[in-house]
Amino acid sequence: MQRKLALLIGIGALTVLLMLRWDHVMTLVNLMSSKQPSAEPELPPDTITPIPGSRHLMVSAFKDHRLGGAIRVSSIICRQELQPLYCVLCANTDAKAVGALNQCAFSQAKVDVHSESFGFPFVTSDVLCMSPALQQATHVSITANPYANLTFLSIHNQEVKESFRYNFTVCISSLFGEYNNALQFAQTMEMYKLIGVQRVVIYNTSCGPDIEKILKYYRKEGMLEVVPWPIDKFLTPSTGWKYDLHPGDIHYYGQLTTLNECIYRYMYQSKYLLLNDIDEIIMPYKHANLEKLMGTLQQEHPNAGVFRFENHLFPKTQFDDSGRFRLPRWRSVPGVNILEHVYREPSRKDVFKEWKLIINPRSVEQTSVHSTLKQFGLVFKVPSDVCRIIHVREPRQAQLSKDQLFVDKKLWEFEELLIPSIDRALNESGVL
Ligand SMILES: *[C@@H]1O[C@H](CO)[C@@H](O)[C@H](O)[C@H]1NC(C)=O
Ligand SMILES: *[C@@H]1O[C@H](CO)[C@@H](O)[C@H](O)[C@H]1NC(C)=O
Ligand SMILES: *[C@@H]1O[C@H](CO)[C@@H](O)[C@H](O)[C@H]1NC(C)=O
Ligand SMILES: *[C@@H]1O[C@H](CO)[C@@H](O)[C@H](O)[C@H]1NC(C)=O
Repeated sequence: MQRKLALLIGIGALTVLLMLRWDHVMTLVNLMSSKQPSAEPELPPDTITPIPGSRHLMVSAFKDHRLGGAIRVSSIICRQELQPLYCVLCANTDAKAVGALNQCAFSQAKVDVHSESFGFPFVTSDVLCMSPALQQATHVSITANPYANLTFLSIHNQEVKESFRYNFTVCISSLFGEYNNALQFAQTMEMYKLIGVQRVVIYNTSCGPDIEKILKYYRKEGMLEVVPWPIDKFLTPSTGWKYDLHPGDIHYYGQLTTLNECIYRYMYQSKYLLLNDIDEIIMPYKHANLEKLMGTLQQEHPNAGVFRFENHLFPKTQFDDSGRFRLPRWRSVPGVNILEHVYREPSRKDVFKEWKLIINPRSVEQTSVHSTLKQFGLVFKVPSDVCRIIHVREPRQAQLSKDQLFVDKKLWEFEELLIPSIDRALNESGVL
């Protein structure tokens, strides 16, 4: 039996070997003899896995039907140390040997380093396995070292789907440090629900004790998926976005990798994805909810797959004078009470505008934070009177006094449903 398997693997591999350059052939012969992936595939213990023989990391694997079924492995590549990488695609073709991989194909990988790095040495990338030899592959491993023991990732998105479990999913990148802004997070989650978000995905490196309770509450309740994101076990992440100001191996705890991973993770689970930060709400100002907003926008722009929304800052240093929502029962909860901050900074003409995105994930290949990098459809900038981002944080224009700011009480319109549901979340999560 063992022999028969080895023979099968050998034949499968040889056909692929013929397509490669001779200097790679010897390496791959070694690869085959070093480990025959005929047993249970070794699955990764973490969401991040080192690529053997390199400093690169791989995250997860997806079939990309838009690229003829190529296998895309979301990865983090050290751009100073580019080197040949190999794909090992495997399938279980024997119905009796459930869970075992008994046919594999080897090929050289194509590495697509994203154009956005913010100056950091480790860059979000796609490692593409184009090999058509094994269309039914269920697992893939990437390696630079032919002698290494391989770790296999399951290949997701095997089937194209036309209907989706969720209409609106928010992807929130990398929660890290002792971030404990529990009140703002609970308020934001409840606000999302009221405008039609059904799912939120958060990549968690670490967090403070009260946020932890809130995360557990929403996970149990079913709205939230928490993806473990132990990037600090593998790299020295930067706490900022610019290499000169915040040095480290990788931009903002790998924010770009998580955003891109989220696109593929939810490609066939959600009709639209909102790519925004944990303290931002993409808020329709002329429609009752996201469903109606996107219905209108998509009808007006049928070929658009990326919608950009302007960020508007509500300084947390300016409070509503009436104190209407300064509720004594929320006082013990750490974090910002977004209902108290109804003053909005004017946009500045000469300053780089910040945007966040709602995308159809099936029309996007790669994204950055404020715009996509590679997409199939058109991009539309949504006017800020139709929809804008409510972003409560430190001021950008701290010199402005209240009468130089706009009063914007959009959130208050949801008061009746919002307040009781925030209470319930705080209460049931145990932070009150
Ligand atoms: C591969 O795994 C085996 C068994 O766990 C171990 O003995 C061997 O040293 C490993 N090889 C490498 C190159 O890590
Ligand atoms: C998504 O939107 C469609 C209408 O466009 C609706 O029929 C469906 O119920 C919505 N799904 C969810 C999960 O809300
Ligand atoms: C977030 O990550 C930290 C660090 O691994 C962990 O202690 C915490 O339990 C995680 N929280 C959730 C809700 O998964
Ligand atoms: C919080 O829960 C307690 C009991 O679990 C209940 O008595 C109280 O009314 C709740 N408060 C709110 C604001 O929902």
